[in-house]
Amino acid sequence: MLTMKDIVREGHPVLRQKAVVVTSPFSEEDVKIAEQLLEFVKNSQDPEIAAKYNLRPGIGLAAPQIGVSKRIFAFHVTDESGNLYSYALLNPKIISHSVQMTYLDGGEGCLSVDRDVPGFVPRYAKITAKGFTPDGSEVELKLKGLPGICFQHELDHLDGIMFYDRINEKQPFEPPANSAVLR
Ligand code: NI
Repeated sequence: MLTMKDIVREGHPVLRQKAVVVTSPFSEEDVKIAEQLLEFVKNSQDPEIAAKYNLRPGIGLAAPQIGVSKRIFAFHVTDESGNLYSYALLNPKIISHSVQMTYLDGGEGCLSVDRDVPGFVPRYAKITAKGFTPDGSEVELKLKGLPGICFQHELDHLDGIMFYDRINEKQPFEPPANSAVLR
């Protein structure tokens, strides 16, 4: 299982690389990476396992964050209605998005960033996304709220983008244009 020792921190060049598309049929290695990422996120949310292994709780994790520059990430996150979105995805992408933007009023955090970086991170309010599950089937997801923000944060990791790159440097708490806050 993955632990915090496996997670690379900001400053590591892999976090700034554009990750490569994985080829299908997916190799055993790529499937294993996807499954390990999801397992870590789930473990990190389990109070007993997290305490035992000193895991910082997270809702998503991308392959570059374990030093693997491939287009794979996982998330395990519940929306405001209590619906769970739990996926390991290979070659995820956004196929369409709203004009409307959103942002978390508390800002974002990242398992690769060991400090608070205050400020609003503009995200699309709604996205339609696609990706492949480890068994090779394609899924289409309509996401909004926290699951949508999480997907966009993880997708950014595959393009070498950190959440704080998107914070307005001069006015970190200026609400983004066309946006509604997510509390
Ligand atoms: Ni992150």
